[in-house]
Amino acid sequence: MGDTMNNEDMKKTKTMAMYPPPDKCNTLKAADANPSVLKFLSQRRSALARAMAAPGPTAQELELILRIAARSPDHRKLCPWRFLLFEGDARAEFGDHLAKIFQENNPNMTSERIEHERTRFLRAPLVVGVVSSPKDCPRGTPKWEQELSAGAVCMNMLLAARASGFAAQWLSEWYAFDGRINGILKLEKTERMAGFIYMGKATENPSERLRPNVPNLTQSWQN
Ligand SMILES: Cc1cc2nc3c(=O)[nH]c(=O)nc-3n(C[C@H](O)[C@H](O)[C@H](O)COP(=O)(O)O)c2cc1C
Repeated sequence: MGDTMNNEDMKKTKTMAMYPPPDKCNTLKAADANPSVLKFLSQRRSALARAMAAPGPTAQELELILRIAARSPDHRKLCPWRFLLFEGDARAEFGDHLAKIFQENNPNMTSERIEHERTRFLRAPLVVGVVSSPKDCPRGTPKWEQELSAGAVCMNMLLAARASGFAAQWLSEWYAFDGRINGILKLEKTERMAGFIYMGKATENPSERLRPNVPNLTQSWQN
């Protein structure tokens, strides 16, 4: 009995073999190309949070998504970010705070709008809050670089979620910038939200959006 593996253990072993954790990870060789990743990156789109449904990632899928997110450039290995998970009932409970604070901030808002705020986190089965958490660095990594690293974590999380077969969207909305919400989230004074990554099963396929004209944004520097 003790020797037999259940389904969950087998899946875990397979995931470990395909996506080894940091202590067992052989990094890609510097010159390895990966055309399927290029295709994925060149076609990726965010999805709308309101077009997401259950199920969200399993615990194992989420572990990998967060691990990949944390595998982001980070000057001097400060880990200037952390994650807040909103799942199950916690989404509605947080929604009650959103509705209350939104109403207090906007006393003339309609009750429909207040109810809309209450249900924001119910749009997706999982929302991951990425907290930018800059550290005092005696060797001088600037706060700006640490905040950029938090943005990179959000982007890597979007990619990992999408590559795992989930729709994902990076949102800030008003509650990423509200001091009282920061209090409810128990952020330190030095911390702020880099974003909320909504994840779930897609209920529709996104269409392409207007993309920047990259040559217009690109110049060769000349002295
Ligand atoms: C930091 C950040 C915050 C964002 N906040 C919002 C938001 O509050 N509301 C919104 O509709 N889109 C927001 N977006 C944009 C969405 O993520 C949007 O889905 C995305 O720009 C679509 O682009 P894509 O398909 O190329 O990923 C935000 C993007 C970033 C980078």
